[in-house]
Amino acid sequence: MLEWEKKFETGNEKIDEQNRCLIDLGNRIWEMLHSDEENKLIKAKEEIKRLKLFCARLFVYEEVHMYDCGTNLSKEHLEAHRTFLYKVDELLEKPADITQEELFNLMVFVIDWINFHIVESDVTDFIDQNLR
Ligand SMILES: [Fe+2]
Repeated sequence: MLEWEKKFETGNEKIDEQNRCLIDLGNRIWEMLHSDEENKLIKAKEEIKRLKLFCARLFVYEEVHMYDCGTNLSKEHLEAHRTFLYKVDELLEKPADITQEELFNLMVFVIDWINFHIVESDVTDFIDQNLR
């Protein structure tokens, strides 16, 4: 579980708002996986697909916004976006049904990634380059 912290602020209202939604989405899926809800694995998998699409839109927004500001996201930042989407897809689209353990591991990865990515890439690129 993640909570919004000052260290996540990029200074760009729209990106911060979307990152807050991303944290809420991640936390909701995490809670769902720990609940007694019926069909929670199927529901969690659908929510993770939604989270992935949300991320894809957010990444495009960041990339276009940076471009509009006359620069580009760092190569590492762009690479992190691509790798994240690829990794989530790889697990969600595998032929056999995803197991509970795989879903838990995927969510640990997603939550760790969100935490690391916002601070190390989003904040760095937007604050350090004075782009808001
Ligand atoms: Fe990013």
